Amino acid sequence: MTKNEDLIIAPSILGADFSHLEEDLVSIADSGAQWVHLDVMDGHFVPNISFGWDLIRTLRPFSPLTFDTHLMVSQPERFIEQFASAGSNAITVHHEATVHLYRVLQQIRSLGCKSGVSVVPSTPVSAIEHVLEISDIVLVMSVNPGFGGQQMIPSMLQKIARLAELRETEGYDFLISVDGGINAKTAGDAVDSGADVLVTGSSFFSAPDKISYVADLLSLGRAR
Ligand code: DX5
Ligand code: ZN
Repeated sequence: MTKNEDLIIAPSILGADFSHLEEDLVSIADSGAQWVHLDVMDGHFVPNISFGWDLIRTLRPFSPLTFDTHLMVSQPERFIEQFASAGSNAITVHHEATVHLYRVLQQIRSLGCKSGVSVVPSTPVSAIEHVLEISDIVLVMSVNPGFGGQQMIPSMLQKIARLAELRETEGYDFLISVDGGINAKTAGDAVDSGADVLVTGSSFFSAPDKISYVADLLSLGRAR
């Protein structure tokens, strides 16, 4: 089955202005995007600290959209319950951050959330093949995680294509998400390679017209 006829746009609030976060959160729903991407960084797995579950719980009443929580956190199994009860609809953990990946993904599903697995650029797809059967989302990092505003690493497109191939041949049902350096120029190649979800932080929040920016990204799905 070929997915991505209906692309999902997931603006990351990491690119927002935290002095008026509620307003920026509302601008995501107003733009026509379907998900809100929430980048949680612990200062250990990645060299940056962002926010935790309390902020997600605080934001939850201000958006009807899917909360797509991306945990860039060592041993994420310690915190899955908190992120689920704060209102996450999907929780993505990194292969590189836990030795109990299969169990963590089961834990996420058992709490009623979509399960996501992510890999940093240096990790090949083969490292996560054993968990694809219990993954609802596979998040391909197209930059080294930790900061917004970086440039996409072009060779990550091959990883997206490999995942799309595996999904087809093995009959899996996950969405392929791509995160890092996505903008109006890079999104086309990501979609052509097989991405279903486009995470976009700095380019979304710096767009002069968020509605047309999102419409342009969404049109890439229809063009396929
Ligand atoms: C990077 C984060 C990304 C990032 C995306 O560590 O996981 O979600 O904020 O931001 P841009 O679109 O600016 O690369
Ligand atoms: Zn992210």
